[in-house]
Amino acid sequence: MASRAKISIIGGGGNVGASCALWASVKELGDIVAVDIPQAEGVVKGRMLDLVQAMSMERSDSGVLGTTDYADIAGSDVVVVTAGLPRKPGMSRDDLIKTNVAIVKSVSENIAKHAPEAIVIIVSNPLDAMVYTAWKATGFPTHRIIGQAGCLDVARYKAFIAMETGFSTEDINALLLGGHGDDMVPLPRYTNIAGIPVSQFISDERLNEIVERAKKGGGEIVQLMGTSAYYAPAYGTIEMVEAIVKDKKRILPCASYCDGEFGINGLFVGVPSVLGAKGVEKVLEIDLNDDEKALLKASADHVAELVDVVKNLEPSLA
Ligand code: LAC
Repeated sequence: MASRAKISIIGGGGNVGASCALWASVKELGDIVAVDIPQAEGVVKGRMLDLVQAMSMERSDSGVLGTTDYADIAGSDVVVVTAGLPRKPGMSRDDLIKTNVAIVKSVSENIAKHAPEAIVIIVSNPLDAMVYTAWKATGFPTHRIIGQAGCLDVARYKAFIAMETGFSTEDINALLLGGHGDDMVPLPRYTNIAGIPVSQFISDERLNEIVERAKKGGGEIVQLMGTSAYYAPAYGTIEMVEAIVKDKKRILPCASYCDGEFGINGLFVGVPSVLGAKGVEKVLEIDLNDDEKALLKASADHVAELVDVVKNLEPSLA
């Protein structure tokens, strides 16, 4: 990796993409290239110019470029894909599949052409199916294709626990598995506050309500503001980018390729993943009880159904 990392964001003129550029430059993670379609040229260039001006107050020296030319992503260490339509009220993430599979396929082909060594982080929805799409369309090895969902979903769960208990978000630790849908699997058994099991602070019944709210956390925001969330999705993405460009070996819940782990074969599903300079360096196959296994299996089965929809829509990705 060059001394200064290069981070490209496809869909960089959109709300999630531009927020990724903001957090990455605030954290001075590297030089940032935000790419968008020609119809959004003014938006992506304007938003990045605005960001450059903000960064002169933040005293960040991250380079920031807005562009419509994929050639500008050459040499990227990490490419983040946020391109695609967001949800509108009443839509599930799965309703976006037809439009977004075509977009993510075309974006992925451009990444393969212009940044063949990059680690790719997919954010577009329906997340798990879009990760599969990017894998097939880039032809990249599985450790360089990762989906962002778990960081966001677990952040929502942790935020609700902090709101409930009044304790610092810094002290809330939790884990979550499965796909980025309403059947994601937060794990109360692996949730603690400063090392103390969460069950000592919150009743099972109340924690269940919190789990349900976290599962539907994206939809709650879509209902309120008419489009998808972007601050937290972007922050979750940048948590992953930071782990990679600083080779931190963080354990983060990511949509990673499972090759038999948890009994899941040949699918990208949310699992605890060690992230470092090589991308997904390991999937941690932790102990699950029978209930947790059943929930993860149901979630993985749903991801498999979505991948079948992708294969039907785009036979070249089968
Ligand atoms: C959410 C969308 C981005 O969960 O999937 O907010």
